Amino acid sequence: MNKTEMIYEGKAKKVFSTDDDSLVIVSYKDDATAFNGLKKGTIAGKGAVNNRMSNMLMQLLEKEGIPTHFVKELSDRETLVKRVKIVPLEVIIRNVSAGSFAKRYGVEEGIPFDEPTIEFSYKNDELGDPLINSYHALALKLATKEEIETIKKYSFKINEVLKAYFLALNVRLIDFKLEFGRLPDGKIVLADEISPDTCRFWDKNTNEKLDKDRFRRDMGGVEDAYKEIFGRINANK
Ligand code: TMP
Repeated sequence: MNKTEMIYEGKAKKVFSTDDDSLVIVSYKDDATAFNGLKKGTIAGKGAVNNRMSNMLMQLLEKEGIPTHFVKELSDRETLVKRVKIVPLEVIIRNVSAGSFAKRYGVEEGIPFDEPTIEFSYKNDELGDPLINSYHALALKLATKEEIETIKKYSFKINEVLKAYFLALNVRLIDFKLEFGRLPDGKIVLADEISPDTCRFWDKNTNEKLDKDRFRRDMGGVEDAYKEIFGRINANK
Protein backbone atom coordinates (compact mmCIF):
# COMPACT_ATOMS: atom_id res chain seq x y z
CA MET A 1 0.00 0.00 0.00
CA ASN A 2 1.51 3.34 -1.05
CA LYS A 3 1.13 6.70 0.68
CA THR A 4 -0.25 9.22 -1.80
CA GLU A 5 -0.53 12.50 0.10
CA MET A 6 -0.61 13.76 3.67
CA ILE A 7 -4.23 14.58 4.44
CA TYR A 8 -3.91 15.56 8.10
CA GLU A 9 -1.22 16.40 10.62
CA GLY A 10 -2.15 16.32 14.28
CA LYS A 11 -0.07 16.87 17.39
CA ALA A 12 1.18 13.29 17.61
CA LYS A 13 0.35 11.68 14.26
CA LYS A 14 0.20 12.27 10.52
CA VAL A 15 -2.39 10.67 8.28
CA PHE A 16 -1.75 9.79 4.61
CA SER A 17 -4.16 8.77 1.90
CA THR A 18 -3.41 5.58 -0.05
CA ASP A 19 -4.27 4.03 -3.41
CA ASP A 20 -7.35 2.60 -1.71
CA ASP A 21 -10.02 5.20 -0.85
CA SER A 22 -11.22 3.25 2.15
CA LEU A 23 -7.79 3.00 3.83
CA VAL A 24 -5.34 5.52 5.27
CA ILE A 25 -1.86 5.22 6.78
CA VAL A 26 -1.25 6.67 10.24
CA SER A 27 2.31 7.69 11.06
CA TYR A 28 3.18 8.20 14.74
CA LYS A 29 5.55 11.04 15.71
CA ASP A 30 7.81 11.47 18.73
CA ASP A 31 6.31 14.95 19.25
CA ALA A 32 4.50 15.48 22.51
CA THR A 33 2.22 18.32 23.54
CA ALA A 34 0.14 19.06 26.59
CA PHE A 35 -2.39 21.65 27.71
CA ASN A 36 -3.87 22.02 24.24
CA GLY A 37 -0.48 22.41 22.58
CA LEU A 38 0.87 25.03 25.03
CA LYS A 39 3.65 22.72 26.21
CA LYS A 40 5.74 21.15 23.47
CA GLY A 41 8.49 18.55 23.49
CA THR A 42 9.83 15.33 22.10
CA ILE A 43 9.78 11.90 23.69
CA ALA A 44 12.40 9.77 21.93
CA GLY A 45 10.95 6.48 20.73
CA LYS A 46 7.36 7.41 21.66
CA GLY A 47 6.02 7.07 18.12
CA ALA A 48 7.09 3.46 17.84
CA VAL A 49 5.86 2.53 21.34
CA ASN A 50 2.45 4.14 20.79
CA ASN A 51 2.03 2.62 17.35
CA ARG A 52 2.91 -0.91 18.39
CA MET A 53 1.10 -0.79 21.73
CA SER A 54 -2.04 0.67 20.21
CA ASN A 55 -2.08 -2.00 17.49
CA MET A 56 -1.60 -4.78 20.00
CA LEU A 57 -4.46 -3.49 22.16
CA MET A 58 -6.80 -2.92 19.20
CA GLN A 59 -6.25 -6.53 18.10
CA LEU A 60 -6.97 -7.72 21.63
CA LEU A 61 -10.19 -5.65 21.67
CA GLU A 62 -11.26 -7.00 18.26
CA LYS A 63 -11.04 -10.50 19.72
CA GLU A 64 -13.34 -9.33 22.51
CA GLY A 65 -15.93 -8.09 20.03
CA ILE A 66 -15.04 -4.39 19.79
CA PRO A 67 -14.79 -3.23 16.15
CA THR A 68 -11.73 -1.02 15.52
CA HIS A 69 -10.12 0.85 12.63
CA PHE A 70 -7.01 -1.38 12.73
CA VAL A 71 -6.02 -3.17 9.51
CA LYS A 72 -2.27 -3.88 9.47
CA GLU A 73 0.95 -2.74 11.12
CA LEU A 74 3.29 -1.59 8.34
CA SER A 75 6.39 -0.66 10.33
CA ASP A 76 7.53 0.56 13.75
CA ARG A 77 5.71 3.83 13.28
CA GLU A 78 3.18 3.25 10.53
CA THR A 79 -0.14 1.46 10.46
CA LEU A 80 -2.81 0.91 7.85
CA VAL A 81 -6.27 1.74 9.22
CA LYS A 82 -9.78 2.08 7.87
CA ARG A 83 -10.68 5.61 6.84
CA VAL A 84 -13.32 6.93 9.24
CA LYS A 85 -15.04 10.20 10.03
CA ILE A 86 -14.06 10.88 13.62
CA VAL A 87 -16.99 11.50 15.96
CA PRO A 88 -15.91 14.80 17.58
CA LEU A 89 -16.20 13.46 21.12
CA GLU A 90 -13.36 12.49 23.43
CA VAL A 91 -14.63 9.73 25.67
CA ILE A 92 -12.93 9.50 29.05
CA ILE A 93 -13.35 6.50 31.34
CA ARG A 94 -12.04 6.68 34.89
CA ASN A 95 -11.50 3.98 37.51
CA VAL A 96 -9.54 6.07 40.03
CA SER A 97 -9.54 9.84 40.71
CA ALA A 98 -6.73 11.70 38.91
CA GLY A 99 -5.99 14.63 36.63
CA SER A 100 -8.81 16.98 35.74
CA PHE A 101 -11.35 14.96 37.78
CA ALA A 102 -9.36 15.44 40.99
CA LYS A 103 -8.83 19.11 40.18
CA ARG A 104 -12.44 19.85 39.17
CA TYR A 105 -14.02 18.24 42.22
CA GLY A 106 -11.30 19.12 44.72
CA VAL A 107 -10.37 15.57 45.67
CA GLU A 108 -7.03 13.80 45.99
CA GLU A 109 -5.67 11.66 43.21
CA GLY A 110 -5.73 7.92 43.76
CA ILE A 111 -9.23 7.34 45.20
CA PRO A 112 -10.65 4.18 43.58
CA PHE A 113 -14.28 4.42 42.40
CA ASP A 114 -16.91 1.78 43.13
CA GLU A 115 -18.02 2.03 39.48
CA PRO A 116 -16.16 3.44 36.46
CA THR A 117 -17.22 6.91 35.26
CA ILE A 118 -17.69 8.17 31.72
CA GLU A 119 -17.44 11.71 30.45
CA PHE A 120 -17.34 13.40 27.07
CA SER A 121 -15.34 16.36 25.80
CA TYR A 122 -16.24 18.20 22.63
CA LYS A 123 -13.20 17.64 20.40
CA ASN A 124 -12.51 21.23 19.41
CA ASP A 125 -9.02 22.70 19.91
CA GLU A 126 -10.19 26.31 19.56
CA LEU A 127 -12.56 25.83 22.49
CA GLY A 128 -10.03 23.75 24.46
CA ASP A 129 -12.03 20.49 24.26
CA PRO A 130 -14.77 21.53 26.74
CA LEU A 131 -16.56 18.97 28.88
CA ILE A 132 -20.09 18.26 27.59
CA ASN A 133 -22.84 15.83 28.44
CA SER A 134 -24.69 13.53 26.05
CA TYR A 135 -27.65 15.97 25.76
CA HIS A 136 -25.28 18.72 24.65
CA ALA A 137 -23.69 16.32 22.16
CA LEU A 138 -27.16 15.60 20.74
CA ALA A 139 -28.06 19.30 20.64
CA LEU A 140 -24.83 20.04 18.76
CA LYS A 141 -25.56 17.07 16.43
CA LEU A 142 -22.12 15.59 17.16
CA ALA A 143 -23.63 12.10 17.25
CA THR A 144 -27.04 10.42 17.28
CA LYS A 145 -28.65 8.89 20.36
CA GLU A 146 -27.95 5.40 19.03
CA GLU A 147 -24.31 6.27 18.33
CA ILE A 148 -23.86 7.63 21.85
CA GLU A 149 -25.37 4.45 23.32
CA THR A 150 -23.04 2.31 21.21
CA ILE A 151 -20.03 4.44 22.20
CA LYS A 152 -20.91 4.11 25.91
CA LYS A 153 -21.41 0.36 25.64
CA TYR A 154 -18.10 -0.15 23.81
CA SER A 155 -16.21 2.18 26.16
CA PHE A 156 -17.22 0.33 29.34
CA LYS A 157 -16.46 -3.00 27.70
CA ILE A 158 -13.04 -1.71 26.59
CA ASN A 159 -12.42 -0.66 30.20
CA GLU A 160 -13.13 -4.16 31.48
CA VAL A 161 -10.85 -5.78 28.90
CA LEU A 162 -7.99 -3.32 29.38
CA LYS A 163 -8.23 -3.21 33.18
CA ALA A 164 -7.81 -6.99 33.37
CA TYR A 165 -5.07 -7.01 30.73
CA PHE A 166 -2.98 -4.38 32.51
CA LEU A 167 -3.53 -5.82 35.97
CA ALA A 168 -1.82 -8.99 34.75
CA LEU A 169 1.18 -6.75 33.94
CA ASN A 170 1.10 -5.30 37.46
CA VAL A 171 -0.33 -2.05 36.13
CA ARG A 172 -3.40 -0.16 37.35
CA LEU A 173 -5.44 1.40 34.56
CA ILE A 174 -6.43 4.69 36.23
CA ASP A 175 -8.20 6.39 33.31
CA PHE A 176 -8.03 6.77 29.55
CA LYS A 177 -9.40 8.62 26.54
CA LEU A 178 -10.99 7.02 23.47
CA GLU A 179 -12.11 8.31 20.10
CA PHE A 180 -14.55 6.61 17.78
CA GLY A 181 -15.13 6.94 14.05
CA ARG A 182 -17.86 6.22 11.51
CA LEU A 183 -17.24 3.91 8.56
CA PRO A 184 -18.93 4.84 5.25
CA ASP A 185 -21.83 2.47 6.14
CA GLY A 186 -22.34 4.32 9.43
CA LYS A 187 -20.87 1.61 11.64
CA ILE A 188 -19.09 2.92 14.76
CA VAL A 189 -15.53 1.68 15.31
CA LEU A 190 -12.81 2.44 17.84
CA ALA A 191 -10.25 4.78 16.22
CA ASP A 192 -7.26 6.97 17.18
CA GLU A 193 -4.87 5.27 19.64
CA ILE A 194 -4.56 3.62 23.03
CA SER A 195 -1.14 4.43 24.45
CA PRO A 196 0.70 6.07 27.36
CA ASP A 197 -0.29 9.39 25.69
CA THR A 198 -3.98 8.64 26.20
CA CYS A 199 -4.06 6.49 29.35
CA ARG A 200 -2.88 6.81 32.93
CA PHE A 201 -0.93 3.73 34.02
CA TRP A 202 0.32 3.34 37.60
CA ASP A 203 2.56 0.53 38.78
CA LYS A 204 0.43 -1.72 40.97
CA ASN A 205 2.97 -1.98 43.79
CA THR A 206 4.51 1.50 43.87
CA ASN A 207 1.91 3.67 42.05
CA GLU A 208 4.80 4.98 39.95
CA LYS A 209 3.45 6.76 36.87
CA LEU A 210 4.18 4.94 33.59
CA ASP A 211 2.54 7.42 31.20
CA LYS A 212 2.53 10.90 29.70
CA ASP A 213 1.83 12.57 33.06
CA ARG A 214 5.62 12.40 33.55
CA PHE A 215 5.90 14.79 30.57
CA ARG A 216 2.85 16.92 31.48
CA ARG A 217 4.15 17.39 35.03
CA ASP A 218 7.91 17.65 34.29
CA MET A 219 8.65 14.61 36.42
CA GLY A 220 11.57 13.28 34.35
CA GLY A 221 12.02 9.65 33.35
CA VAL A 222 9.56 10.09 30.49
CA GLU A 223 11.28 7.86 27.92
CA ASP A 224 11.95 5.20 30.58
CA ALA A 225 8.27 5.13 31.54
CA TYR A 226 7.23 4.46 27.92
CA LYS A 227 9.94 1.78 27.64
CA GLU A 228 8.86 0.17 30.92
CA ILE A 229 5.19 -0.21 30.01
CA PHE A 230 6.03 -1.39 26.50
CA GLY A 231 8.57 -3.87 27.93
CA ARG A 232 5.92 -5.37 30.22
CA ILE A 233 3.56 -5.80 27.27
CA ASN A 234 6.21 -7.58 25.20
CA ALA A 235 7.33 -9.77 28.08
CA ASN A 236 3.73 -10.98 28.39
CA LYS A 237 3.28 -11.98 24.74
P1 TMP B 1 -7.69 14.39 32.35
O1 TMP B 1 -7.69 13.87 33.77
O2 TMP B 1 -6.63 15.42 32.10
O3 TMP B 1 -9.04 14.84 31.93
O4 TMP B 1 -7.30 13.15 31.43
C1 TMP B 1 -8.05 11.96 31.44
C2 TMP B 1 -7.39 10.93 30.53
O5 TMP B 1 -7.46 11.33 29.18
C3 TMP B 1 -5.91 10.69 30.82
O6 TMP B 1 -5.67 9.29 30.76
C4 TMP B 1 -5.18 11.38 29.72
C5 TMP B 1 -6.16 11.40 28.58
N1 TMP B 1 -6.12 12.62 27.78
C6 TMP B 1 -5.88 12.54 26.43
O7 TMP B 1 -5.68 11.46 25.89
N2 TMP B 1 -5.87 13.70 25.70
C7 TMP B 1 -6.10 14.91 26.24
O8 TMP B 1 -6.08 15.91 25.53
C8 TMP B 1 -6.35 14.98 27.66
C9 TMP B 1 -6.59 16.31 28.31
C10 TMP B 1 -6.35 13.81 28.37
